[in-house]
Amino acid sequence: MHFTRAIVRPPAANFALGLSGANNGPPDIDRALDQHGRYCEALRDCGLQVTHVEADLDYPDGTFVEDAAIVTGRGAILTRPGAPSRTGEIASVGESLSQFYSDVQHIVAPGTVDGGDICQVDDHFLIGVSARTNQPGAEQLAEHLRRMNYTASILDIRASASLLHLKTGIAYLGDGVWLAAAGIQEEFLRAGGAGIRERIAVSAAESYAANCVRINDTVLLAAGYPQLTAALEERGYRLVTLQMSEFRKMDGGLSCLSLRF
Ligand code: GLY
Repeated sequence: MHFTRAIVRPPAANFALGLSGANNGPPDIDRALDQHGRYCEALRDCGLQVTHVEADLDYPDGTFVEDAAIVTGRGAILTRPGAPSRTGEIASVGESLSQFYSDVQHIVAPGTVDGGDICQVDDHFLIGVSARTNQPGAEQLAEHLRRMNYTASILDIRASASLLHLKTGIAYLGDGVWLAAAGIQEEFLRAGGAGIRERIAVSAAESYAANCVRINDTVLLAAGYPQLTAALEERGYRLVTLQMSEFRKMDGGLSCLSLRF
């Protein structure tokens, strides 16, 4: 898919009050804003028009805007985030999406979905059932996607303790090429339906960097992960590395910071 737009939301002043199990100390808001600004510049350098949703003190996790919606070339679906403190994040994201999509679908109770659990693989979607995305939410989402002429598979990832979300541990780079953190089951990738032309292994020490995104001809990757950087460079990918330290402290990865469509 060729991307032309992204939606982002800068971290709010109380970002440190968001959910985190990382135990890496509180984020520095000024550094987080600087890292977010550079992330937005990288999106623009990939040719995307970037739309900002305003930060909101009611939603300290709101900068992880990917969790609030699933955006595709054929339609958009607002999620119902699985953490109660995040449920209201969808309102302002929905307003922003309505500029670009005429018909935005919704996940409704008792369903819950976090966008971080959804991995698009060409015309197929992998949907992870996690601590945040439940089975009813996954089924609703699969149905919305089928109506848009996509296919979907639902995977239960709850036994994988290291995965907050499905995309915590995997990324699809297109053309059957996957990044997968150590311990990711082959069946997760096979369920993608695209086959596995290549699995680029991400070592346990670099597992945070498995959450990267391909945008058109560029891969955005967290900075500071030399083995994975070298593996992608060897394969000829155009790479942009970005400092993510403050978002990592709040359990957020690189994909979480934008909706790309
Ligand atoms: N802090 C990101 C999340 O837990 O949803």
